[in-house]
Amino acid sequence: MEKIGRTALLLLLISLSLILSFNKRSQDSSTKSRKVLPTTASWGGHIPASIRKGEAQQPLPPHIKQRGQVCNVLDYGAKGTGNEFDTYALQRAIDHCASEDGGFVYVPPGHYLTATLYLRSNIVLYIEENATIYGSPNQRDYSTDSDRWYVILAESMDNVEITGGGTVDGQAEKFVVRYDSRKNIMVSWNQTGDCIGDECRPRLVGFLDSRNIRVKDVHFHQPAYWCLHIARCSHMLVEGVNIFGDFNIPNNDGIDVEDSNNTRIVNCHIDTGDDGICSKTILGPLFNLTVSDCWIRTKSSAVKIGSQSRHDFLHLRFERLIIVDSHRGLSLQLRDGGSISDVVFANIDLSTRYYDPSWWGRAEPIYITACRRTPSTVVGSISDIYFINIAGTSENGVFLSGSPDSILRGIKFQNVTLSYVDSGRSQLMESYHDYRPGCRGLVPHNSSGVFVQYAQDVTLENVTVIWGSNLEWGTAFEFTPKSVGRLSLSDVVSTTFSSAFP
Ligand SMILES: *[C@@H]1O[C@H](CO)[C@@H](O)[C@H](O)[C@H]1NC(C)=O
Ligand SMILES: *[C@@H]1O[C@H](CO)[C@@H](O)[C@H](O)[C@H]1NC(C)=O
Ligand SMILES: *[C@@H]1O[C@H](CO)[C@@H](O)[C@H](O)[C@H]1NC(C)=O
Ligand SMILES: *[C@@H]1O[C@H](CO)[C@@H](O)[C@H](O)[C@H]1NC(C)=O
Ligand SMILES: *[C@@H]1O[C@H](CO)[C@@H](O)[C@H](O)[C@H]1NC(C)=O
Ligand SMILES: *[C@@H]1O[C@H](CO)[C@@H](O)[C@H](O)[C@H]1NC(C)=O
Ligand SMILES: *[C@@H]1O[C@H](CO)[C@@H](O)[C@H](O)[C@H]1NC(C)=O
Repeated sequence: MEKIGRTALLLLLISLSLILSFNKRSQDSSTKSRKVLPTTASWGGHIPASIRKGEAQQPLPPHIKQRGQVCNVLDYGAKGTGNEFDTYALQRAIDHCASEDGGFVYVPPGHYLTATLYLRSNIVLYIEENATIYGSPNQRDYSTDSDRWYVILAESMDNVEITGGGTVDGQAEKFVVRYDSRKNIMVSWNQTGDCIGDECRPRLVGFLDSRNIRVKDVHFHQPAYWCLHIARCSHMLVEGVNIFGDFNIPNNDGIDVEDSNNTRIVNCHIDTGDDGICSKTILGPLFNLTVSDCWIRTKSSAVKIGSQSRHDFLHLRFERLIIVDSHRGLSLQLRDGGSISDVVFANIDLSTRYYDPSWWGRAEPIYITACRRTPSTVVGSISDIYFINIAGTSENGVFLSGSPDSILRGIKFQNVTLSYVDSGRSQLMESYHDYRPGCRGLVPHNSSGVFVQYAQDVTLENVTVIWGSNLEWGTAFEFTPKSVGRLSLSDVVSTTFSSAFP
């Protein structure tokens, strides 16, 4: 009997959703060609009458009351205990708010365990301080398509915001198979066959093919894989976001910006295992990325452009950054057919140190390589890259290397002071140049203060390298004359620590 009742209800809901979406469609065609939002009914949810009238049942704090339409997730049945899944209630609140022309989805203090949540256009997901949304550690709670494995996902949406001071937590520790102080071994959800080995886990928050997005004043904790992924978006602001990943978890990237235009990342704090802020091009170009006033610590590259570089990168700005104890500082790794041009790094303090060979990088403060990913790759080029007012302390030197089929052009250093220190770890790493991925791999070669090969128009102006005591490595400046054209040096100083700071 119960089964018949459910079937009848289901049929009713399906027809209701058809009617609703039909109405929606005819409404939309009369206005602009607005996207048809899935209605709550398509979720099979029942909306209490009071909510339909916009009357919240739960009392709201004053700073929330002033907003327009508020959809409090508790009114949709969320429990916030952290023991049972609140997916259904959270998604209903989002869908209902969106179906009413947008609004404010309010997540009050509590613990909300969930499968993937799909954000809609014109909503603000307001995760209150002391509220945490936890991603499920079970594969069945995610899409069958691994490209859509996120705890929170917005796909083809406009005008979406996540804010409120609360937390989204990916429960990374539940994905660890074996802890290792060098690099943990992680679960692989590769049964589907569409992703491989240790790159097969859900990301935390994703915006795909979306526009006008704000992610502001939220905490992102313990992503199981990448943290914030922005792909094929435009006009995205990431501000005041605090990312706290795990130092020993592979692929725990902070922010990945892919094929996107007009992205601003401001005032963020990123402490994680893999690349801090990484930009890539896979299906289209990347224009106008600005990163400023951020603090980054990582066991990989703090700032990275590439290595996926199939299309162009143009007009990127990185300013006022503090990079602490990272495996590599500022890095460009061109490996595919795109080109990287007009990039400025200015007013940056950094410290880099060596951790372990299982992570790419060897403590280089500044690193540029342009070479083929595979022997058959046609590789693009790197040009007009500026480093201005950079100060750092590192266990390795600057490494700038094009290749015979991709000469670096227009690399300029102005006001750069780098101190080199021997921490006792250097014997582990000093005798290799690291071209990974692809290219020449690891090549035995002692480190230099500044190494340059396959480059044209390189300018070093007011550049000082300061050598710590007991430092035994290589050469202060090493330029391979046959492959470097028009190298201009002015006010370039190499000195020992004791004479620089008597
Ligand atoms: C969050 O918790 C802290 C400490 O318990 C408390 O002082 C603060 O008022 C809470 N904030 C909200 C918005 O509940
Ligand atoms: C999945 O990945 C694990 C760990 O990398 C590996 O041992 C296993 O063979 C892979 N399975 C499939 C079906 O690819
Ligand atoms: C970014 O801008 C370029 C150049 O106008 C364009 O080709 C590309 O489609 C844009 N990408 C997005 C995601 O809007
Ligand atoms: C990049 O920014 C400039 C302004 O700085 C703007 O003129 C240009 O249209 C932007 N490019 C894209 C693809 O949006
Ligand atoms: C280099 O530093 C000097 C002294 O701080 C400053 O006046 C000058 O503007 C700096 N150069 C650039 C290109 O910022
Ligand atoms: C050279 O750069 C350093 C910072 O690296 C700066 O303090 C100094 O003022 C600069 N000197 C000149 C002449 O610009
Ligand atoms: C590095 O330098 C040491 C000491 O000068 C030398 O013995 C060694 O052969 C060099 N290694 C390489 C790879 O050039």
